[in-house]
Amino acid sequence: MGITGVLLYPIRLFFDIVTFLLYKKPLAKKIAFLCKNNSTILDFGCDNGSVSKMIMDFNPSLKIVGVDIQGNRPSQIPRRLYQGRKVPYPDKTFDIVLSLDVLHHTKNIPYFVKEMKRLSKRYLIIKDHAVYGPVSRWLVCFSDYMFNMPYRIKCAFNYPTMGEWGGLFHKLKLKKTGKPTNHDFCFGIAKKYNPIFKLEKCE
Ligand SMILES: C[S@@+](CC[C@H](N)C(=O)[O-])C[C@H]1O[C@@H](n2cnc3c(N)ncnc32)[C@H](O)[C@@H]1O
Repeated sequence: MGITGVLLYPIRLFFDIVTFLLYKKPLAKKIAFLCKNNSTILDFGCDNGSVSKMIMDFNPSLKIVGVDIQGNRPSQIPRRLYQGRKVPYPDKTFDIVLSLDVLHHTKNIPYFVKEMKRLSKRYLIIKDHAVYGPVSRWLVCFSDYMFNMPYRIKCAFNYPTMGEWGGLFHKLKLKKTGKPTNHDFCFGIAKKYNPIFKLEKCE
């Protein structure tokens, strides 16, 4: 471990505990609830697979594998690494394709939502950020950087507004299903910046 690793270790430990309790565990519970029993699932941008592992702990009938562009940390689920363009699976391989806090790390969100649609037989579940103006964009940029920097995950700072998300889903013929929901943590303060979309393919 180099000097940067030593300096980052306590920060990572702190974030691991805080994000596990306040962010990842409640998110995993919510996502598990949105998935039909026995679904096969691709976790697009799974990182170390910790959230998917928790989703499967909540619902052991789900079968989740992951894909990512980096493998800085060992994965808790089967994970394939790829180069960041075409995701290495054939069309319609999975019942559900998930992306949890991934799309805003890419420069081309429409391309990757299309890839998710290609890989899914029916459903996409996306948890991402939405911004509402320059101040909220700055706040989201700041927190995104702070939470990703210790893990050496690159940020693209690419945050659509709710209108832009809706326009993209409409264009790609993805219909929102179920009640609109958000990841509600930090006593409701961050709720509106953290939408969760459950989408169904219309064609
Ligand atoms: C904030 S982390 C989220 C990790 C995980 N989904 C979670 O909720 O713990 C963002 C992840 O997206 C990955 N990522 C960024 N661009 C990607 C791409 N084009 N394809 C797949 N994964 C990507 C990063 O490597 C990183 O692991």
